Amino acid sequence: MANETHGKQRAEDWDAFSRNYHADSVTPFARGVRFRLRKDLRRLVAEWRSAKARRSRVFVDFGCGPGDALELVAGNVPLSAGVDFAPKMLRMAATRLRGHGVKAEVCRSTDGFRRIRDAGDAVGQGVGESQTLLVEADLRKLRAIRGCVDAATSINSICASNGRDASWMFGEMARSLRTGGRFFSVWPAVESLEYLFELDRSAGDAPGDRGEILRSDGVHVDATGYALKLFRAEEIRGLCDLAGLVVDVLAPVRYPWAYMRELGWGYYPNRRCLWDWYLIARATNSVRRRSRASS
Ligand SMILES: C[S@@+](CC[C@H](N)C(=O)[O-])C[C@H]1O[C@@H](n2cnc3c(N)ncnc32)[C@H](O)[C@@H]1O
Repeated sequence: MANETHGKQRAEDWDAFSRNYHADSVTPFARGVRFRLRKDLRRLVAEWRSAKARRSRVFVDFGCGPGDALELVAGNVPLSAGVDFAPKMLRMAATRLRGHGVKAEVCRSTDGFRRIRDAGDAVGQGVGESQTLLVEADLRKLRAIRGCVDAATSINSICASNGRDASWMFGEMARSLRTGGRFFSVWPAVESLEYLFELDRSAGDAPGDRGEILRSDGVHVDATGYALKLFRAEEIRGLCDLAGLVVDVLAPVRYPWAYMRELGWGYYPNRRCLWDWYLIARATNSVRRRSRASS
């Protein structure tokens, strides 16, 4: 086990990882994973379209990476934006969207956030043309778009090496929502990794190769020293509560064993599958009150 820990705190780390992103990371968008986000976002878009008072809407995919979630909404709502600090990830997202006939504009945070804010302010003024932005920005600094977003996704993008940074990043995303705004997200589950370690132990394998979980903080440190904060279901509920979000759904999104085996995460086909947590939550008034009070 490495003594030093490190996380992917910098855009360069994610850019370096981007080339093999789909081959190297566990993602709920992988083939064979039953991920209800697709249906939930289709329903959201249909709801927005059929609303009596048609108004401009803003959708943001926080930590969009190569754009798997953004692709489900882009072009179908007045303003959709992917926010990520890794330029190569944003370029991959732009290429992907182009392949789906959606032209996305890559912009810096000042310009991108101004346009998200303007679209949010235009609520009530009807629906204009659909625009898609890819904004190069840090998820730890979202003050410029507080209370501007109608719905957001964050799919495994609360990437932090400790609990304090993770809860800050989540708080920033939560405060970006307007009252009633919806938050769809996926969080790596600490319970799932603990369960995998148990399976390894009962099969007589030492889980050492998979690193260790620092119990105090739910941080997984892998064999290279890479540290990533994982979350318990109760912790996610607590974070939502603090951020003024009401939890509508908190359920596992399960990964088939064949997929886990491909990525070197073990193979126990007769046992329950590993999972991440899928959350759907809604912003209450208190989010806005807190954001006003703190700005
Ligand atoms: C595990 S990937 C998930 C990508 C995408 N949401 C998906 O599900 O395929 C995490 C993404 O979050 C981005 N990210 C991590 N920390 C960030 C930060 N502080 N600011 C902006 N983006 C960040 C990374 O660049 C990366 O694209």
